[in-house]
Amino acid sequence: MDKHSGTITNHARLHIPDVVNASNADDPFKLFYGKTPSLFYFGRGALWHALKTMELSAADNIIVPAYHCGVEIETIVMTGIQLRYYAIQEDLAIDLNGLASLMDTGTKALLLIHYFGFPQPVEAIRDLCISRDIVLIEDCSHALFSCYQEKPLGTFGDVAIFSQRKTLPLPDGGALMVNNPLLVAPFPSGKPGEFMAIKKAFGMLARTTLHIETRTGLPPPLSNIVAILDRIIAKKAGIRYSAGHEVNLDRCTLAMSRTSTWLMNGTRAEQIIETRRNNYLWLAKSLQSSHCIKIIKEELPDGVCPLFFPIMTVGINRQELQDMLAAAGIDIFIFGKELHESLPTHLFPGATELSRRVVCLPIHQELSLSEMVYITDTVQRIVQELEHADHH
Ligand SMILES: Cc1ncc(COP(=O)(O)O)c(C=O)c1O
Repeated sequence: MDKHSGTITNHARLHIPDVVNASNADDPFKLFYGKTPSLFYFGRGALWHALKTMELSAADNIIVPAYHCGVEIETIVMTGIQLRYYAIQEDLAIDLNGLASLMDTGTKALLLIHYFGFPQPVEAIRDLCISRDIVLIEDCSHALFSCYQEKPLGTFGDVAIFSQRKTLPLPDGGALMVNNPLLVAPFPSGKPGEFMAIKKAFGMLARTTLHIETRTGLPPPLSNIVAILDRIIAKKAGIRYSAGHEVNLDRCTLAMSRTSTWLMNGTRAEQIIETRRNNYLWLAKSLQSSHCIKIIKEELPDGVCPLFFPIMTVGINRQELQDMLAAAGIDIFIFGKELHESLPTHLFPGATELSRRVVCLPIHQELSLSEMVYITDTVQRIVQELEHADHH
């Protein structure tokens, strides 16, 4: 396949059958995790409320990973608690001794990110936290429907947060699961403007159905319709909700929209897990580490529902690879491109390398085998071209 029609997006898109199949019948959280969490507009709102369940003071500290997206760290910074960073190695591993050495009597919590859906050694870390009386916050923003030894991630920690809008094509959605009975599960206090969610869902559907690339704007008359909707929403709700890197505390109190909840309840977890796993396994089988790219996770353990297929650019320029893939219609994602400004990067070479070199290839539930073949062929071709150009 030389050219692919349309862009292969890095996240699953919303399709009309998703809307047709949506229902209020089954909550996938209830089905998969055995309980219904508090549903928030974004994951950051869930994290903010998780921190609010603890009585934190400015003298307390929280242990956080050096490799992150920035939003979770900024949310924590806004509580006024002190940060202590722990190292993340290039293979996403954590040094448990290093972790333990950061803990003292002021340590109240530890944030553990299951990157790209892959479980961290959550049992060992939970035991360490229990022995030091520290709250374990599992960040499952990448790990919806992922398990560790047949037990869902998010059920090990005292609390867990999710950002289900990353795995599922939803206009909004975060969640907070409280597992420790000593902590009181908080609920969002604000309702989002429902028009905004409907507009976002409409935009998502229009893009998919009309094959409009995410990078380009909508053509008229759609752009006119959207402009009118924008004005109505601004009048009704008075605000816009952005999923950018800023953390706005007013927005953190918002619940997941009813539109998004309705769409989420049409989700078939088993199908999503199976397709994501098959697509991941395809790439793991077809792409090899070389002196240009390094596969971060060659193995896909049982029970993992991966968010992406992460690779590291080694001998080639990441931006060049990203641009060439975009020109071939493949939209990649970069996680942790801008690390939080409070991180002393020179002390954390692993996280800094990940931040500079990671490329997340799409493997989501919407991609067919022929699209996966196209991704493999294109990555191989471009890597060869870049390698070749490097030699001359
Ligand atoms: C690891 C991690 N935690 C938390 C968040 C926050 O999720 P949200 O964007 O839904 O607020 C994100 C993404 O932004 C993330 O990647």
